[in-house]
Amino acid sequence: MTKRITIADLQARKRQGGKLAMLTAYDYPIAKLVDEAGVDMVLVGDSLGMVVLGYETTTPVTMDEMLHHAKAARRGVSRALLIGDMPFLSFRATRADAVRNAGRFVQEAGCDAVKVEWKPGIEDTARAIIDAGIPVMGHVGLTPQTAASEGGFGMRGKDAESAARIIAQAVALQEVGCFAMVLECIPDVVAQEITQRLSIPTIGIGSGPFCDGQVLVTYDLLGLFDRFTPAFAKRYADLSRVIREASASFVQEVRAGAFPGKEHTRSMAPDEYDKLKKGTGYE
Ligand code: KIV
Repeated sequence: MTKRITIADLQARKRQGGKLAMLTAYDYPIAKLVDEAGVDMVLVGDSLGMVVLGYETTTPVTMDEMLHHAKAARRGVSRALLIGDMPFLSFRATRADAVRNAGRFVQEAGCDAVKVEWKPGIEDTARAIIDAGIPVMGHVGLTPQTAASEGGFGMRGKDAESAARIIAQAVALQEVGCFAMVLECIPDVVAQEITQRLSIPTIGIGSGPFCDGQVLVTYDLLGLFDRFTPAFAKRYADLSRVIREASASFVQEVRAGAFPGKEHTRSMAPDEYDKLKKGTGYE
């Protein structure tokens, strides 16, 4: 049986100086492929809203949408730690709501942990979820759920004052018991400072090489989301082109009568066909 990655494994990797890899997945086939490729964590990110559901931002994503996709990802992941990303309103109204919704990720979708974006007061919410027995990953720096109301999607922590605030947020989330921290779109030296101060692993996105690990939105890595690609996201493949070309070939072959060919067609035994033609096969 495959050995599942635990939070203790991830934290040991940091102590040993090894790097961690996390990718997003929102369905069974991609979750299975990235798990087989050896990622340490699979995040069912609320980036789902933009790259799969076609929303303009992540704000409209609901718990029910997240759970639907997290359940599918769960069926594909047998090794990596599976993390459900708590969508916009799922943890912002009341602490009781937050615990209930985090519990749904674990009980209904089989996630191993949840992730919450920073907001003022999140420490108490994170502590309540952790007290309920659910591991929590924090997320500081650029927090996409509130980015629009905070001046857009650019880098955070570019001046000393805002960098100090982000460092304090990361420390506060570690203090209440978060097991790891996403650092999104902050300067490399600020990410380095946080990585050195925290004993839990930092997972960077657009935050340079000094983090304990890296995460990308898989659709960016695969070139499957071409509405825009963040400057920090490396495109490892161009699946949009592959899918367009394959689909165009299908259309062209169907129109030309070239598909299905002999190799894709099954016929019936000649004597049965004879009977059918004579009408006896129906008696
Ligand atoms: O929603 C998401 O995919 C994320 C990652 C970018 C960290 O939060």
